[in-house]
Amino acid sequence: SKPAVLVTGGAGFIGSHCCKALAAAGRVPVVYDDLSRGHADAVLWGPFVEGDLRDRDLLARTLAAHEIGAVIHFAALAYVGESVGAPERYYDNNLCGMVSLLGAAEAAGIDKIVFSSSCATYGVPDRLPISEDLPQAPINPYGRTKLACEWMLRDAEVAHGLRFAALRYFNAAGADPAGEIGERHDPETHLIPLTLMAASGQGGPLKIFGTDYPTPDGTCIRDYIHVDDLARAHLLALDHLEGGGGSLALNLGTGQGASVHQVVAAVERVTGRKVPVELAPRRPGDPAELTADPSRAAEELGFTARYRDLDEIVAHAAPWFGH
Ligand code: UFG
Repeated sequence: SKPAVLVTGGAGFIGSHCCKALAAAGRVPVVYDDLSRGHADAVLWGPFVEGDLRDRDLLARTLAAHEIGAVIHFAALAYVGESVGAPERYYDNNLCGMVSLLGAAEAAGIDKIVFSSSCATYGVPDRLPISEDLPQAPINPYGRTKLACEWMLRDAEVAHGLRFAALRYFNAAGADPAGEIGERHDPETHLIPLTLMAASGQGGPLKIFGTDYPTPDGTCIRDYIHVDDLARAHLLALDHLEGGGGSLALNLGTGQGASVHQVVAAVERVTGRKVPVELAPRRPGDPAELTADPSRAAEELGFTARYRDLDEIVAHAAPWFGH
């Protein structure tokens, strides 16, 4: 059987869904998470080590004790707004965590890593949809930490022969279709959860951040990709690396955009409730439109998103927000 996989951040939203997919494929996910944002009760499919990535000794002991063969690295702070107010915290956690992880992996002879990158590394793109060869010019500290991590991976490849897959997610959404795990962020800042909460009367009306964007209905457009599709893409990337494939940097999106108004309409259809909304000013740092060109992931991994219907994505998230 194939070796165990270290899943950093495996108690978080995308990480926990990936652990479920790994277990379904017969793999052992070993979760390493400091629980600063994740939830211990989402660790259901393998051993759990509670720890900080910057604890190099604990990391080294974990890699050895569980005979880890590859790493999927989710653990990071991931709120754009928070990163603007507390950049040093983001650089410390996201970059120092990566330095420690790469050092421990190299020392343990582990040469395969799948990394959670972000469409935030592109900043405000000058073309749409976004293909991987567009310049990466992030506009906030969060995006800069993700880009710097991609640089570290490239340099480790040259220096030590590491092979990596940098997966640049667009907007992760939805939840486990079987309902075992879902999305839980504290504080919640993401559009679909907040819209579902507003529909169930939690937390007041949804603030629509900006209605004067140069888009057909004036609100921002994003590419919402189901978390189960993201999880499956990680398994395909791991297979690719374990099969001897070379390093990759890939967008993970559906290629389809939805505006804030369209998300609100989807929530109203799925829940049968009216969403109370409040028109609010633009949120600083929000690009008008981010949609993926997903063709490279299709070519390199044979990956295309299966969930293409926004209502279905919203329906899987809905039970986690009072519906
Ligand atoms: N929005 C609202 N009201 C809200 C919350 C969000 O109108 O209460 C709007 C935002 O302005 C944006 C869209 O809904 O236009 C989506 O916002 P999210 O906060 O859900 O997602 P983002 O696109 O801002 O962020 C996501 C990931 C980040 C990643 C970023 C890349 O959560 O990790 O994409 O741009 F960095």
